[in-house]
Amino acid sequence: MPNNKPAIGEDLSQKTTASLNGKNSLTITDNRTGKQYDVKIENETIRAMDLRQIKVRDDDFGLMTYDPAFMNTASCISRITYIDGDKGILRYRGYPIEQLAEKSNFLETAYLLIYGELPNKVQYEEWANNVMMHTLIHENVKKFVDGFHYDAHPMGMLISTVAALSTFYTDAKNISNPESRALQIYRLVGKMPTLAAFAFRHSVGRPYVYPDNDLSYAGNFLSMLFKMTELKYRINPVLEHALDVLFILHADHEQNCSTSAMRNIASSHVDPYSATAGAASALYGPLHGGANEAVLQMLDEIGSKSNIPAFVKAVKEGKGKLMGFGHRVYKNYDPRAKVIKKLADEVFEVTGRNPKLDIALELERIALEDDYFVKRKLYPNVDFYSGLIYQAMGFPVEMFPVLFAIGRTPGWVAQWEEMLLDSEQKIARPRQIYLGRDAREYTMMGKRPQEKKPKSEA
Ligand code: CMC
Repeated sequence: MPNNKPAIGEDLSQKTTASLNGKNSLTITDNRTGKQYDVKIENETIRAMDLRQIKVRDDDFGLMTYDPAFMNTASCISRITYIDGDKGILRYRGYPIEQLAEKSNFLETAYLLIYGELPNKVQYEEWANNVMMHTLIHENVKKFVDGFHYDAHPMGMLISTVAALSTFYTDAKNISNPESRALQIYRLVGKMPTLAAFAFRHSVGRPYVYPDNDLSYAGNFLSMLFKMTELKYRINPVLEHALDVLFILHADHEQNCSTSAMRNIASSHVDPYSATAGAASALYGPLHGGANEAVLQMLDEIGSKSNIPAFVKAVKEGKGKLMGFGHRVYKNYDPRAKVIKKLADEVFEVTGRNPKLDIALELERIALEDDYFVKRKLYPNVDFYSGLIYQAMGFPVEMFPVLFAIGRTPGWVAQWEEMLLDSEQKIARPRQIYLGRDAREYTMMGKRPQEKKPKSEA
């Protein structure tokens, strides 16, 4: 890593803000024993391990917390992204997302996420150069892409090829070496657009286009996607800017499903390509990065404004979801959706208005006035409008999660580094509550029940 960069993160083992005193503690009475325990409150959190001391008998395991889907469990200390879901605030390293979307570019934002500060000119040029110098992929990776069926989903191709990079860069295993980590970060941020573009070109049966490093990060990606026989791809600056902003908006989102997957997988100390493939797989699902694809399918199904009331009624009756609405953390308008809504106007001036926009706007209006959505604090999220822009720009829906993955890569690698440098982190390994059968004797095959299918255990 270049010397003029700020150090990555701080020592996360340092004591955090509050210290234990009488007021910063929680007193728990165990009514089974009548015993009382004082547990430290730090950063408005108690440590789950402090509950282990709460036992009925000395040989008890100790009290655990049960938190399926991590609704109320902090798994790490992070200094990267801040979200206030009730107020609709999103900040990267303290900078509001709206300001970054307006004033920054994607590579600068990626630097900010990874190294903690906005780069000065020298730092930026060095970083951008290092990323763009790593946009090429090994020729053998092309052969993998060639091997996929003609209708393979590009996200499946991206997941597989990014995993395959670990076989090319065996040095990536040196995760405790800062220089090696820095190199893998350049490679990952640099190569994701190339892998994505090759997957796209394969699915439309066009020859691969090699990176053009004279272009910007987003411009080069557009060239690799859409260049035909011309010598140099002529980029529309509005679309180039829009794509760059969309990447910024997707760059990190604290401990979401794919980032948690990245941290969990990488906590085993596997190389970052394998971990990124896992993170991208988590992103692929329709409840996460696949949601914008699902939004367009939903708008297609609705078909016209007149069908919206019936659709909303069906959602309220539990027959499906209003895709692009709702969020685990935001209980207010997703700030990214606000930026995207504005961006849509700029894009549609160039591409022509996406006819589905009118359905989306009306759907949003009706939902935001409806008690069902108001009561549950369901607002449009980032995916509600992003797909409309992507489609207007010429991306097939299958490419939507792929675009999300490119944007999210700096967030994944920033969180990966933070996790590795956090002396409190260990291999991720949740506990379970076992409610299955107690110990029983093995039954020989001839003596087992003769039903065709096993009875399912509840
Ligand atoms: N349409 C209709 N009802 C909904 C929706 C929705 N989109 N989202 C949540 N609800 C209801 C849900 O049925 C539940 O109702 P009830 O209390 O009566 O059982 C209530 O709202 C709370 O929902 P939840 O499922 O407990 O909330 P969650 O935090 O587990 O889920 C979510 C968050 C994003 C998975 C969910 O809102 C959802 O499935 N949304 C649609 C998919 C989507 O747009 N995903 C993109 C998320 S943003 C991009 C990203 O971060 O990847």
